[in-house]
Amino acid sequence: MPNWDADLYLRFAEERTQPAIDLLARVAVAAPRRVIDLGCGPGNSTALLRQRWPDAQIIGLDNSEEMITAAAKSYPAGAWLGADVRSWSDPVPFDVIFSNAAFQWVPDHAALLPRLFHMVAAGGALAMQMPRHLQSPVHQLMLEISTRPEWNDRMERARTAVAVESPAFYYDTLQPLAARIDLWETEYQHVLSGPHAIVSWIRGTGLRPYLDALANDDERSRFETLLLAGVEQAYPRHPDGMVLFPFRRVFVVAYRS
Ligand SMILES: C[S@@+](CC[C@H](N)C(=O)[O-])C[C@H]1O[C@@H](n2cnc3c(N)ncnc32)[C@H](O)[C@@H]1O
Repeated sequence: MPNWDADLYLRFAEERTQPAIDLLARVAVAAPRRVIDLGCGPGNSTALLRQRWPDAQIIGLDNSEEMITAAAKSYPAGAWLGADVRSWSDPVPFDVIFSNAAFQWVPDHAALLPRLFHMVAAGGALAMQMPRHLQSPVHQLMLEISTRPEWNDRMERARTAVAVESPAFYYDTLQPLAARIDLWETEYQHVLSGPHAIVSWIRGTGLRPYLDALANDDERSRFETLLLAGVEQAYPRHPDGMVLFPFRRVFVVAYRS
């Protein structure tokens, strides 16, 4: 699990929160009493849940101390839980189990999702969103740079840190348990100020396991320089100097009967 930097993550707060807004808009549960936000990060997704369901008991859960501290600072009256989704469970069911941009860091979705779904109350929903852009140029560049001989033997964990399956996989995993499933993909076109902004974005998330595997700042800076050079080629500037950063995400809402 990489270390997290809440400030760096929130540098693109608007773009990172939009998918949570889009996911929440499709959750058809009218008045849930108990809601949990798994992998709540600095609390941006949890704030949306509070806005929509002000009367519900809402818990934010994250296994990063830095993130939970930032979340508690942003909303001290909230219920914040430092725990790992892989081992967390609660005997009292939730009307909504929500997760935005977190499960890509949690392995073995075939086991994880049925286990979580069993914690959803009757009439409730499991709602999740994950980036699915492993085929994107920036991810392919990170993979390619990671195979350079100077650090290749230290990169295996980084290369497998993020895992997201196909929509068909999520359908097949949850359909036998669910009354109804909504699933879709969206490719956002983020307008960023240049190639360096793409590197800065990815430094807050997908690049972290690679940087964590490197020995020192010299190596980290070299890795980033190589990445920036590749990003400049792969994401050309538009006439106004901006770049488009396409970003595909998968959304799933599974309802319990
Ligand atoms: C990209 S952030 C998403 C934050 C927020 N949900 C949002 O919508 O922007 C991913 C979060 O998932 C958390 N996370 C990753 N693996 C986790 C695990 N096994 N258990 C709990 N939290 C986890 C990370 O600590 C991080 O805060």
